[in-house]
Amino acid sequence: MQNQDPFIQALRQASPYILGHRGRTCVVYLPSELIDDEAMLRRTLQDLMLLHSLGLRLILATGLRHQFDRVLEAAGEPVLFSGQQRITPASALPHLAGETGRLASRLQALVSCRTESQEGRSLPPVIALGNWVIAQPRGVLQGIDYQHTGRVRKVQVEAIEAALAQGQIPLLTAVTPSFTGELFNLNALEQACAVASALQADKLILLLPEADLPELPRQLNARTLQQLQHRHWLLPRLAEISGNVRRIHLLNAFAEGALLKELFTLDGVGSLIFADRYHEIRQATIDDVGGILALIEPLEQAGVLVRREREKLEAEIANFLVVVRDSHIIGSAALYPIDDHAGEIACLAVDPDYRNQGIGAELLEALEARARSLRLDALYLLTTQTQHWFVQQGFREVGPEALPAPRQALYNRQRGSHVYFKPLHQETVQ
Ligand SMILES: CC(C)(COP(=O)(O)OP(=O)(O)OC[C@H]1O[C@@H](n2cnc3c(N)ncnc32)[C@H](O)[C@@H]1OP(=O)(O)O)[C@@H](O)C(=O)NCCC(=O)NCCS
Repeated sequence: MQNQDPFIQALRQASPYILGHRGRTCVVYLPSELIDDEAMLRRTLQDLMLLHSLGLRLILATGLRHQFDRVLEAAGEPVLFSGQQRITPASALPHLAGETGRLASRLQALVSCRTESQEGRSLPPVIALGNWVIAQPRGVLQGIDYQHTGRVRKVQVEAIEAALAQGQIPLLTAVTPSFTGELFNLNALEQACAVASALQADKLILLLPEADLPELPRQLNARTLQQLQHRHWLLPRLAEISGNVRRIHLLNAFAEGALLKELFTLDGVGSLIFADRYHEIRQATIDDVGGILALIEPLEQAGVLVRREREKLEAEIANFLVVVRDSHIIGSAALYPIDDHAGEIACLAVDPDYRNQGIGAELLEALEARARSLRLDALYLLTTQTQHWFVQQGFREVGPEALPAPRQALYNRQRGSHVYFKPLHQETVQ
């Protein structure tokens, strides 16, 4: 009988996620409004420390817009903006640096504070300060000089990875050095996005005040994000990095327990952008010949695929489909009609960097659809090393003698390939 105890149920529901998140790299952005809300900040940090103790590798970035406004006003410094972008005169920098340092100390104090139940347990995590990001000036845009407002020039990926490997939590701070030894004020959200992208993080979690959350479906992929990006100022920035970050979560920073619900329940509570690094499958053209050759030549040399000369490939290009991602060919396959009833699949290859993502199966499906549209009843293929994969895709082994006569005549006995067959319609099952 199923246990009705909500605690047991919740723990059981969470357990696959606990295992799944372990060792994942996750950049978390906390907004300025949350930093101002002591009670909510405490609870959020508690949840983050729970994630850390479960093995998530965290990097924190904190917005300090309101805190900076206040500290500048108190110092009699002008608070300057162009649209949403702060203009930072050199005279503002010491005040911003002071505020950044105060925040870092406050976070370190909060994560070091033990609740009663943690008495006698292990030491608190280290919130690590560093020049994790190198800045450069934002420069002069439309006649406006942003002075010491910067943008990301470089992310110190190796240093961040080393800190993460030691169980530390790197904190991205607003006031950041440049290669010229000057300091710049760098937007925290921009840093969070750039660092998540440079690290190819598993997750970027943006905790935002409700008013700043874009209206989005609960789950969307990178392609939909591209289509919707005009809807909200934040979305073009996310669309830019969506190829490099596996999941982007947008959550209400003030919804109690949102972080834990999002990560440990099936449906979550925020918007989740699957950065699925999308690709397209299309008919190959003569311009693709170079890309296809680059893909298949190593396999030809390894004896996995039969050698094809460039001229032959050019002449037969109409038989090929290619998988393209960011204008780069990452997969190819061909369908050669044998006679009016049957076709042969050949030259199926997926770039080793992109294997095991279902692209091979997708290509095969596209070839089968093409074969059906040509009214073919059956597919054959010859392989020396990929037998089991094709069996998983519904093929079964037959002897060379099962090949239609015109293809049988060309069968290379010396190569000794195994012959596989797949009927495309139920009635042709033998
Ligand atoms: C075969 C190939 C096209 C599959 O592409 P892919 O995009 O990785 O395929 P999918 O993601 O759809 O399938 C991956 C699964 O197939 C398995 N697989 C890959 N190659 C295999 C092989 N030679 N034999 C058995 N299984 C294989 C993977 O282990 C993985 O299994 P899993 O889902 O249990 O983890 C790709 O491995 C390739 O290019 N191989 C070299 C060229 C080749 O052999 N082509 C066929 C010549 S006829």
